[in-house]
Amino acid sequence: MTLRLNDRYLKAFITDADYAAMADKIAVAHQTFTEKNGEGSDFLGWTELPDHYDAEEIARVVKAAEKIKKSCDVFVAIGIGGSYLGARAALEFCTSPRYNNLKKDTPDIYFAGNDISASNLSELLEICEGRDVCINVISKSGTTTEPAIAFRVFRELLEAKYGKDGAAERIFVTTDKCRGKLKELSDLNGYETFVVPDDVGGRFSVLTPVGLLPIAVAGIDIYEMLEGAKAAKEAYTVCDLHANDCYRYAAIRNILLEKGKSVEILATYESALGMTAEWWKQLFGESEGKDNKGIYPSSVTFTTDLHSLGQFVQEGSRIMFETVLDLVNSSHTLKIPYDPANSDGLNFVADKDLHYVNRTAFIATAMAHVDGGVPNIVLELEKRGAYEFGYLVYFFELACAISSYTLGVNPFNQPGVEAYKKNMFALLGKPGEENEKLRVALTKKM
Ligand code: PA5
Repeated sequence: MTLRLNDRYLKAFITDADYAAMADKIAVAHQTFTEKNGEGSDFLGWTELPDHYDAEEIARVVKAAEKIKKSCDVFVAIGIGGSYLGARAALEFCTSPRYNNLKKDTPDIYFAGNDISASNLSELLEICEGRDVCINVISKSGTTTEPAIAFRVFRELLEAKYGKDGAAERIFVTTDKCRGKLKELSDLNGYETFVVPDDVGGRFSVLTPVGLLPIAVAGIDIYEMLEGAKAAKEAYTVCDLHANDCYRYAAIRNILLEKGKSVEILATYESALGMTAEWWKQLFGESEGKDNKGIYPSSVTFTTDLHSLGQFVQEGSRIMFETVLDLVNSSHTLKIPYDPANSDGLNFVADKDLHYVNRTAFIATAMAHVDGGVPNIVLELEKRGAYEFGYLVYFFELACAISSYTLGVNPFNQPGVEAYKKNMFALLGKPGEENEKLRVALTKKM
């Protein structure tokens, strides 16, 4: 078992009749998906990645990762949204949020261009001082402002340090195969480039070079990751809510939404899964949140957040349900020591493994939250590893597509993301008549 949906904490909330009614809607979504005739169906390329990936391109990714590992101490992955979250999620899932502090023979890895914070970028530049640096700029459109700014800063740094030709050996670009500023710049300067396939959208692109190059630099086996995704693809083909956990998850989400549960909390009990939750939030948030529809995706890391948001989940407004990513096996064993004097009164947990205590906390919390009116979907994840990450990615991507079609939205576009950009460009004085008109209008409102 790599991943299993356990519905034991849903019994009080969902009846067999609810499942039967939703099964019909899921069947329609399944048909739309498999016949590729739904909205956005020209962005279904992610379904081919696990078993029909471009072998030459992936081999080039592995080769570039080896070169990067040999030639730098610090590797900076520059990108935002779907061009950032997947790689970071994989890194922390497969290794640790403390990856940079662990003993390893791979470079430190930092992420830039995922915000516009002067402090973040300045601090990273300081971290790079006196160290050898390689960068990977990742942008499908090649025009996104946040990574473009970070890239300009790092390009200047690398060219000053290594010269133009030396810098070109350390700059790796992942972008569209022929369009965009980034592609033009790469061709002009001779940067090695990797392709984001046309038919794969940003948030579905972690299993392309977008995610795979940074993941490979961390020494994670990307072939194993693709194998995991392939296993998930093979596991979730039948349209039967009893046999297909992925479709069952999509169905449960929509049943709960119909019952007024419009917020989903992805709960994990491991900080190593925190960035996976961030990736998941983008996947579902950008895919479903449109046309005034959707479930708001949020996340918590328990037990930490039981001491901040636990009160709200237990007794606040009853609009949410939880999906618990329950890690069955920890990568570490840590026995709590026995104290003969029992001076802290903790001997009731003495000699117990810490992971056992953590999972007991999960069971206790789930039962309390269910009593408080919060349905809990449990996704039991066998362990953390490259294979499991690939499996989980495909599980959630497929669930997201089926859930979105069930909801009646196009999972593969993100028209709302443009609104802030238009205003920002206008206010920053980007040339153009439209920008100027908008700038004047916005300035009056400020
Ligand atoms: O999922 C998406 O499409 C977005 O989140 C994009 O990945 C994000 O906006 C970055 O875009 P780009 O890769 O073009 O820089």
